[in-house]
Amino acid sequence: MPETAIDYDEISKIITALTQGETDEIALMATVTCEIHHADDRFDWTGFYRNVGERTLKIGPYQGGHGCLKIPFGKGVCGVCADTGKTQLVDDVDAFDGHIACATSTQSELVIPVYGANERLIGVFDIDSDQPAAFTETDAREMSQILQNAFKSI
Ligand code: SME
Repeated sequence: MPETAIDYDEISKIITALTQGETDEIALMATVTCEIHHADDRFDWTGFYRNVGERTLKIGPYQGGHGCLKIPFGKGVCGVCADTGKTQLVDDVDAFDGHIACATSTQSELVIPVYGANERLIGVFDIDSDQPAAFTETDAREMSQILQNAFKSI
């Protein structure tokens, strides 16, 4: 199990301070993505796939190399997360049936559903790592909390 380098108390405070009062989804997503992506060397691709309706996710905002523009619900790790509403912690992407390999360097992933007010599924937050089994249950729990705080009222 890798050590968690990210200081969640600190990052959470920074994101809260930066996003206070902001209700624009893209502005919030861009800020969360930027702060988290640069907070830990384990994170090689960090960003959102937005729920655009018709059971479809569309990319962005994100940091890292390019990703697939569109993912149907149920496909790949992000699509399964959107379909089930359940966090996906994948230690080995090659062992995940239907994984979408946007970057061949990706070895593990953490994908978390993002909800706004009234349980509206805004999209999913995807972090990919070039290291195997890079993510922990602590990462999943703390990231979910950050996302909930940032998006719960919009
Ligand atoms: N790995 C994701 C696809 C998106 S990217 O890698 C940026 C998946 O299987 O859902």
